[in-house]
Amino acid sequence: MSREDNDAKTFYVTTPIYYVNDAPHIGHTYTTVAADAIARYQRLRGGTVLFATGTDEHAEKVRRAAEAAGLDPQGFTDRVVASYYDAWQRMKISYDRFIRTTEDIHKETVARVFGELMEKGDIYKDQYQGWYCVPCETYLREDELVDGRNCPDCGRPVEEMAQDAYFFKTSAYGEAVMRAIENRPELVQPDTRRNEVLSFIRHGLRDNCVSRLNTGWGVPVPGDEEHVVYVWFDALVNYLTVAGYGYDDERFARLWPPDVQLVGKDILPRFHATIWPAILMALGLELPRIIFGHGWWISASGDKISKSRGKVVDPQAEVELLIEESGCTTDVATDSVRYYLLREVPFGHDGTFSSEALLGRFNADLANDLGNLLNRTLPLVKRYLDGEIHEPGPGAGALAEVAQSAVTRAEQGYAELDFRAMLQATWELLAAANKFVDQRAPWDLYKTGKKVELAAVLYDILDSIRIAALLISPVMPTVSEEIWRQLGLDSMGVDMSWDDCEAGGMPPGAKVRRGRPIFPRIDMDLVRKRVAQEARQEEEEEQQDMITYDDFQRLDLRVARVLDADRIEGADKLLKLTVDVGEEQPRTLVAGIAQQFGPRELIGQHVVIVANLEPATIRGVQSQGMILAAGEKEPLALIVADRECEPGEKVR
Ligand code: MSP
Repeated sequence: MSREDNDAKTFYVTTPIYYVNDAPHIGHTYTTVAADAIARYQRLRGGTVLFATGTDEHAEKVRRAAEAAGLDPQGFTDRVVASYYDAWQRMKISYDRFIRTTEDIHKETVARVFGELMEKGDIYKDQYQGWYCVPCETYLREDELVDGRNCPDCGRPVEEMAQDAYFFKTSAYGEAVMRAIENRPELVQPDTRRNEVLSFIRHGLRDNCVSRLNTGWGVPVPGDEEHVVYVWFDALVNYLTVAGYGYDDERFARLWPPDVQLVGKDILPRFHATIWPAILMALGLELPRIIFGHGWWISASGDKISKSRGKVVDPQAEVELLIEESGCTTDVATDSVRYYLLREVPFGHDGTFSSEALLGRFNADLANDLGNLLNRTLPLVKRYLDGEIHEPGPGAGALAEVAQSAVTRAEQGYAELDFRAMLQATWELLAAANKFVDQRAPWDLYKTGKKVELAAVLYDILDSIRIAALLISPVMPTVSEEIWRQLGLDSMGVDMSWDDCEAGGMPPGAKVRRGRPIFPRIDMDLVRKRVAQEARQEEEEEQQDMITYDDFQRLDLRVARVLDADRIEGADKLLKLTVDVGEEQPRTLVAGIAQQFGPRELIGQHVVIVANLEPATIRGVQSQGMILAAGEKEPLALIVADRECEPGEKVR
């Protein structure tokens, strides 16, 4: 099939592929829901779509997480990937392809691409001397570090690295990538991010290290088993694997280039807007049409209503919250969370996730504007028209203009990935329809026997609801289906199609069916009262957990100077420390801080230890005390004396 044949182009939309050391969270969900809305919209328009998502499994942090769980990496990723399948099923993600980087076809494609670039001289071997951030899986130069030891992206300590490695000639493509981004404003979006990217490139692109020493996890470098392909190179190639690059030319011709690639803003400048286009240029391939870097969600501080625990918002917990507070179905709650994510902030901006705002939108936008319009209109059709939609007749079409404008703006919103504007346009149509009910008062028309007018008014309202259901169906697929059902359209055999967005498309003869209200209202006063009561209860419980001053006095906290620090063989997380506590002999401690702190940065530090903790033998080493560090799940910062003091000094 030739690429000249434009109709043959399959609309190809991608999300990043996600690391499997973490279960899916709001970040993964956000990108994936947005991509899902795009895919559904394109299908609704009758297009052929390939929507791909998946998992990035060859990361060092994945290997370490597997080790910590006592599993081999493949067994570990096989297990975690299930949580992605499950999450996407719950969120109604209609992907066509879920790619795992551990699939053979992908490993073959990575090796093929790497080999091609080696042959062309775009990948060469040299010495790598620098730093690596394991959580971000990023190679960093000394001048990029913060405070000389922390990652500029996540702020966590980096690891030093010196090894033979393979490099990709990113620098050779810097100019060309920059020109492409400048000449094609659509390529990298939104504009603010595009400017960030351009300034990142202007700072100068250096060649990227694209391999790691082989620790038994990853795709081996072709012809050199001592090295594996760097996980980011491996991951970016997934977009080519999905498209059939190198093994299915016909498929590739249909899919390439991707139409929309969605990513979070953090992985745009360094990866998707530089290395990725550079690799494609090196391969002589067309660049994607749009690469869009969306913003980040943070959780509202003090959001007491949220069911998510900790700093990371869990979309499933928010779904449960909606079900609990409103009594709606799981499907409706899921659609409502999808709606909130795409409605609350402009795509591209950061947002604060607040459960209170989620419940608020459920009440205002969904229960009031949309739900209420349906719930107040259907009974009128039942009562006055025997439940059947009549021919529009003369006088109908009063809302046609508003509807047309909503459709045009919604189309523009979808095309520009401005989901918020698209939803706002739809809600203007709903507002107009609600106002129309009030103004035209069908009950009065009935009373005064204006039958023709009554039929026309009800027709216009239902037609507007029908159009609104179509416009939002990519975002709220189940809700739209339910509206379709209640309007009697499914039993008329009318499928949803964007072509039917025009006003006047409601088929006469459809029999409306009242169902349960889709969005039962939430009593916010009640919610707030209950939350306040729960908070009080929690406070009381906390007070019961108080210890007395005497209890505290029993702890012997002391300043200790670290004399020596060593890794413990076979234990990734543990360090053996030798510390001076002002006693005759130094003490030995075992501390679970090896992943966050290197031995060299500890020696000489004045840390705080619990000196009267019962000794314990850990990995054959006797530990005589415990070092104090901040951080609930993992040690983030050590507690150190902020000025000169003697080892053994009491801490009180
Ligand atoms: N494996 C790489 C991507 C390789 S693609 C070739 C990766 N994986 S990830 O699991 O860390 O991806 C997380 C995605 O979620 C990123 O797009 C990131 O921007 C996004 N988010 C993570 N936390 C987020 C929020 N709190 N809010 C919105 N998105 C955020 O990176």
